[in-house]
Amino acid sequence: MMTDSSATTEVTVEINAETKPHPRRIMTFMRRSSVFTTSQQQGIDEFGEHYLLETEGKAFDATAIFGRVAPLTVEIGFGMGYSLITMAEAAPERDFIGIEIHPNGIAQICYEAGQKQLPNLRVIDGDALGILENYFADQSIDTVQLYFADPWPKKKHHKRRFVQTHNMQLIRQKLKVGGIFHAATDWEHYAQCMLDVLDVAEGFSNCAGKGHFAERPDYRPLTKFEVRGQNLGHGVWDVLFRKDS
Ligand SMILES: C[S@@+](CC[C@H](N)C(=O)[O-])C[C@H]1O[C@@H](n2cnc3c(N)ncnc32)[C@H](O)[C@@H]1O
Repeated sequence: MMTDSSATTEVTVEINAETKPHPRRIMTFMRRSSVFTTSQQQGIDEFGEHYLLETEGKAFDATAIFGRVAPLTVEIGFGMGYSLITMAEAAPERDFIGIEIHPNGIAQICYEAGQKQLPNLRVIDGDALGILENYFADQSIDTVQLYFADPWPKKKHHKRRFVQTHNMQLIRQKLKVGGIFHAATDWEHYAQCMLDVLDVAEGFSNCAGKGHFAERPDYRPLTKFEVRGQNLGHGVWDVLFRKDS
């Protein structure tokens, strides 16, 4: 049972200097205010040391972090993290690392993971683009997932969307050969753009066949933003691409 408290505490959250957005990189997110609930504060105070990975200028070693060799899933932009918690619980044979820029999401997932004593999950606070580039070794990830990424619906903001040719080449660099990039969105225009970008992206092939969206895999839980989309009457589109080279 996910719990939360309505009591709030005002906090100032410093973004780690090494993981804050690159000054010349176009940001894929909006900054949001940071008022922690009591449980979020508890998440950082009690469980942050265990679940929140520190960036220390060298690539993460998942084997050392989790104390075993297991398939690694990295989620970009997990929001409040409820669906990532569900996935980590449902797949104890895999390890999961979530990257999120929103401090409340980081704090909330630390709280939930701590309550459940989840062994196969860690999180990183910062811009996923910089973190992937600087802190993940090439060919070290089995799956990268991006669920209900900010859709940036206005044309002038499309350049902020995460799925862009250059970002997908960064993902390709970090995935193992045979690794999967899985995205889902409730914005039809963004879904079609994802397909257009990925169908011609070097080194990737569409698991559903060129030009096709994938069936929703049964391992993908409903996310908070997916439910929001459903309530607005939106459809949902999944794209699944394999790194071939
Ligand atoms: C629309 S929300 C979706 C959250 C969650 N995946 C869901 O489906 O409920 C998108 C999330 O991605 C995060 N985000 C966007 N760009 C990011 C980036 N470059 N690095 C880390 N997080 C990012 C935002 O802070 C936000 O929490």
